[in-house]
Amino acid sequence: MKGSIPEDKIEEVRRRTDIVSLIGEYVTLKKAGRNYLGLCPFHREKTPSFTVSPDKQMFYCFGCSEGGNGVSFLMKLNHLTFPEAVRQLAGKVGVVIPDRPLNREERERSTLGEQIRRVNELAADYFARALQSPAGAGGRAYLRNRGIGAEAIRTFRLGFAPEGWQNLLDFLDKKGIPPKLSEQAGLAIPRAGEGARGHYDRFRGRLMIPIEDVDGHVIAFGGRVMGAEEPKYMNSPESPVYTKGNNLYGLSRTREAIRQAGFSLMVEGYFDLIALWGAGIQNVVATLGTALTRAQVDLLRRYAPRVAAVFDPDEAGRKALARSLELFLAGNVHAKAVILPDGHDPDDFVRTRGREKMEELVARAVPMVDYYIDEILGGRGTLEEDRDKLREAVAFLCRIGDAVERNLFIKKVAEKLNVDQEVLKAEVRRVLSHEAAPLAAQMKKGSEGTRSGSCPQPDHLELSLIHMMLECPDRIPAVGASGVLACFTSEELRSLGERLLTAAEKQDGAIPDIYSLVHGLEEGPVRARLLNLLMGESPYPEELIDRLIADTLRKIRRKWYKERHRILKGKIVKAEEAGDRELCDSLLREKERLFQEEKRLA
Ligand code: GTP
Ligand code: MN
Repeated sequence: MKGSIPEDKIEEVRRRTDIVSLIGEYVTLKKAGRNYLGLCPFHREKTPSFTVSPDKQMFYCFGCSEGGNGVSFLMKLNHLTFPEAVRQLAGKVGVVIPDRPLNREERERSTLGEQIRRVNELAADYFARALQSPAGAGGRAYLRNRGIGAEAIRTFRLGFAPEGWQNLLDFLDKKGIPPKLSEQAGLAIPRAGEGARGHYDRFRGRLMIPIEDVDGHVIAFGGRVMGAEEPKYMNSPESPVYTKGNNLYGLSRTREAIRQAGFSLMVEGYFDLIALWGAGIQNVVATLGTALTRAQVDLLRRYAPRVAAVFDPDEAGRKALARSLELFLAGNVHAKAVILPDGHDPDDFVRTRGREKMEELVARAVPMVDYYIDEILGGRGTLEEDRDKLREAVAFLCRIGDAVERNLFIKKVAEKLNVDQEVLKAEVRRVLSHEAAPLAAQMKKGSEGTRSGSCPQPDHLELSLIHMMLECPDRIPAVGASGVLACFTSEELRSLGERLLTAAEKQDGAIPDIYSLVHGLEEGPVRARLLNLLMGESPYPEELIDRLIADTLRKIRRKWYKERHRILKGKIVKAEEAGDRELCDSLLREKERLFQEEKRLA
């Protein structure tokens, strides 16, 4: 279903999209021959197998078999529907898709997520304007006091929610947004209590900070009080567009700087990020005070493989560091620890000491592993404390997935804690074997489950022929004329072949949109194999292609006739056994006919 977008607009978006620059926004790509290579955003890997082909405007991961074109990339990456992905892409490539008012049916069809994003966008505009209005004088003064300038206000779209119970609700109401939708977006709260009706604004008298996804869509808000009231921050609840641990604050505005710097500086708070950005350190992201998640590490790695994370030197900071370290190790991100002087956060440090001092601190950051081993595990203590540390060390070592890496750390930790390396190794092995047994069993069961449900591998001759048709579309009519598709054993490949014929006819000799046809295939071995083949350079030199096609045609036919003969032979044997002369004769005639037909075609 294409939603409400006209077909020609979809086509224009497709034509204007350059897949390398599109995917390059999310994945760091390096040129490798004719293609580009990067770490796959759809599965975890250490060596790049995610390939983007500018010639074919396709991507394919040799590791996880995920593949497609620009639209399917966005759909998969951002969990969008087809029309959502096309609209997003249209925005990027400058195609204007008429935003006519939706009729009722369309409104119901447009997903809740899409509607919430729109409401959030309206709210962000409202808050930003309120900050500049007379009602926002307090907010402006607050920001001025914290040294936050006009450029930062504009970039981070800072705003203000005036005092009052339904300023935003009234505004949204005028825009035709029902209170129920504002509630679903997390901007309004239904009145509670007996006989209570209606809604009220969630954010009142607060400085408003929009939280955006990597593409700059507002997905939630943080609201800060301007005095000492509690709670200091009020954040949007989770919604269909906002899951706390899946995003990082600021990334939409800082991802380019992160890519350029080759690393991101990770802080905790909104204001830490905004202050650093304002001071000229722009390769920053913020976790917003919650524990780092695996999804956030994966997100960060898309932009740079290195992170410098700021931690407090206190107990809470140490805990956070230990937990983050595991995630960074598992996520294959090189992490360093930036330790600020006691009692400082990045915001006041950069404001009081300046950009250079902050940069020095970052430059002096030590690998997080070393910091962990030296500062947290290291240092002499009582016997009791040492035992706790050893236990913690073993738990830590067990969580390092990579065996080589694990052994390396075992060595370091053994030295640090002054225990025998072999003893430590044995202990880790013991714990691992206990933990791993049920897990390994589970995984085995899981993979068996998928194997039994998977389809057989496609016939390689048929697949090659389809591949040749895709690589050399001008030969499609000739293949069609040969009638070979009737000899295909794979239903899926035959119907793809037929669709290629139709597309080639329609296009009058021009290259048909063959890749969309491939993308349209169901997920499975055929699609994966084809995408895989298409990502390589064409293995069919122009001067050989006709011979190759003829050869493959012949082989497919031979296979088909062989199969016919086999079936006929079985029938003949049965007929002979049954003593059915008549049937036997007719089958033999059929056999002869097949024989002649095959000879004629060859
Ligand atoms: P300032 O106090 O204005 O400097 O804020 P900050 O952004 O530096 O925040 P802080 O370092 O105190 O906390 C880090 C992050 O934790 C904040 O940016 C918030 O996302 C979150 N946080 C802090 N306090 C609260 C709170 O009271 N409620 C909620 N929901 N989140 C909070
Ligand atoms: Mn702060």
